[in-house]
Amino acid sequence: MADYISTYTGIRFYPAQPDAEGICIEDIAHALSLLCRGNGHVSKYWSIAQHSILCAREAAARELPDRLVLACLLHDAGECYLSDVPRPFKRELPRYRELEDRLIDLIYNRFLGSPLTKEEERAVKEIDDGALFYDLKELLHNEQSETDPQFHVVPSYGYVPFQEVEQEFLDLFYRYYRSPAGEPDAAADARASGPDQKMPVTRMPERPAPDYDLLAAQLREFALTEPSPMPLLSNASALLKEAMGDVNWAGFYVRRETGDAGGESGAAKKSAPEPELLLGPFQGKTACIRIPWGRGVCGTAAKEDRTQLVPDVHAFPGHIACDSASNAEIVVPIHDKSGRVAGVLDIDSPLKGRFSEADREGLEQFVKVLEEYGTW
Ligand code: SME
Repeated sequence: MADYISTYTGIRFYPAQPDAEGICIEDIAHALSLLCRGNGHVSKYWSIAQHSILCAREAAARELPDRLVLACLLHDAGECYLSDVPRPFKRELPRYRELEDRLIDLIYNRFLGSPLTKEEERAVKEIDDGALFYDLKELLHNEQSETDPQFHVVPSYGYVPFQEVEQEFLDLFYRYYRSPAGEPDAAADARASGPDQKMPVTRMPERPAPDYDLLAAQLREFALTEPSPMPLLSNASALLKEAMGDVNWAGFYVRRETGDAGGESGAAKKSAPEPELLLGPFQGKTACIRIPWGRGVCGTAAKEDRTQLVPDVHAFPGHIACDSASNAEIVVPIHDKSGRVAGVLDIDSPLKGRFSEADREGLEQFVKVLEEYGTW
């Protein structure tokens, strides 16, 4: 009999000689989202991945360091290889516990750079125990004597298809994952040479860039059919949202003149009035309607007339948070026929470091089609 297990992505994993290189986040996210909590002794399906996501979200809500959020997400990752042995059985299986401890240390080493300290272990266990309390209450209707633990996140136990859970697990992972020091990170190196790179960046998941030539050609067809902004920008946002992975908002803000003079001083008030940005067609959650010229990522792109590629929006002074899921953003100015900024294309992602120089180039090419063929 083989002394390895074959994982979802096809890796041969040897439990007795686990190898850090064989530990793959896609395997963990997939297997944990298909493995049921409590060995199936629950009133409805609730996966280990859902439990892990709850723990990670609680850690984030408590504003614990990113490392601890990730530790909470990964604290049961060993079960992807070893399976979930209930605590009373585990007590009887010292060899299992030894292998489990070794495996979880390897997983933390792989993704956090080192095993957890005792203090970190305590913080993770406190959240894990709190989540276990709610799991028992919701999934076993187990009335417990203690009062509910103080949780910032309200646990919700509705059914979610495993594919969505798997994606959420991966999204959370990439939001909090930092490449351990010394490990090569080609994407970060490429971004570090760009002009907007003062902020810490996260390794990007490897993804093929969308075919920007094809997107530009499709957009041109739409523009030749109808160049007016409403249908053109509506289809442009749909094209981008569909083609770009890990994007939670894609759309436009358009220039509108106002009566307000820009700047603080009286002298400035006599100068030309500042325009503003008004929400245009988009795909995603509802968004703020007006953005002052020069404010947030969009206003900055418009005022400075320069693409803003922001790996981490929380490090961008004045960033305007429309969707709390957004962590990275790219904004490209759009010009009218006279060369004046007429609006911006804005794209948000839940993944830090999501946008690359290839995206910047591709989206600027996309915007050129809007400028050339659209009515401005
Ligand atoms: N984050 C933007 C606001 C627009 S939303 O992302 C849709 C900004 O800071 O300008």
